[in-house]
Amino acid sequence: MSKNTVATLLQMKARGEKISQLTCYDYTTARLAAAAEINTILVGDSLGNTMQGYETTLPVTLEEMIIYGRSVVRGCPDAFVIMDMPFMSYQVSTEQAVTSAGELIKKTNANAVKLEGGAAVTGQIRAIVDCGIPVCAHIGMTPQSVNAFGGFKVQGKGEENARRVLEDALAVQRAGAFMCVLECVPPKLSALITKKVDMITIGIGAGAGCDGQVLVYQDMLAMSGEFVPKFVKPFAQIGQAMTQAFREYDRQVKSGAFPAPEQTYAKSDCSDEYLARLEQEY
Ligand code: KIV
Repeated sequence: MSKNTVATLLQMKARGEKISQLTCYDYTTARLAAAAEINTILVGDSLGNTMQGYETTLPVTLEEMIIYGRSVVRGCPDAFVIMDMPFMSYQVSTEQAVTSAGELIKKTNANAVKLEGGAAVTGQIRAIVDCGIPVCAHIGMTPQSVNAFGGFKVQGKGEENARRVLEDALAVQRAGAFMCVLECVPPKLSALITKKVDMITIGIGAGAGCDGQVLVYQDMLAMSGEFVPKFVKPFAQIGQAMTQAFREYDRQVKSGAFPAPEQTYAKSDCSDEYLARLEQEY
């Protein structure tokens, strides 16, 4: 598989080819996603929920993103990898945003960064793009603003809000974003935004009218807990399969069925006579 770039991804949009994106946080999963030829990999700060068990993404740090990001890039060196910028690693100033984006790229070898917010973060987007780092924006429901939104709620509902989301999209494009995640935005509004912009739109809970789609991999493999957002489709019951396999392992360890002779290094054992001598000696 040849490596995707900003240019090849934009060409996909121009040809009307849909772009697939999945989150990844570790080497093993990244290898599997690369084998499936997923177009772009997002090391999302959703790792705060999926890998660390927090209720929100707010506690995730830059250092943690780097640790997960490095493992992902090692697993899919030929994929286009986007690193999420965690809460408070870019909001303070354009200088802070550039420093954080630089750290993420230098220390992970990823290809782009993603940050949340529309018109409010155009200064940061422009400054990062000016350093030669491609930026994916993220508008609509931006999980780092969960406290301001009062929960994880659909954005762009009603005429005024719809206009604001469209204006956010236009603002981040003007600032230089090559891609923009639209999260929890009504489908006709997402389709309109996709028509109005040259940058790539990636939807999550934003309908089929976007240029591509992203899902959190644990959600689409049905590995998450009880709460599953409306926009998630389970593509396999991996959570159930894992629990069943773990249960079977537990049963076989306890019954002695595992390990069987074929899972041992029996050929390397010394003779019975020598082992008997050892037994006597000790
Ligand atoms: O952090 C994340 O995984 C994300 C996607 C859900 C878009 O931002």
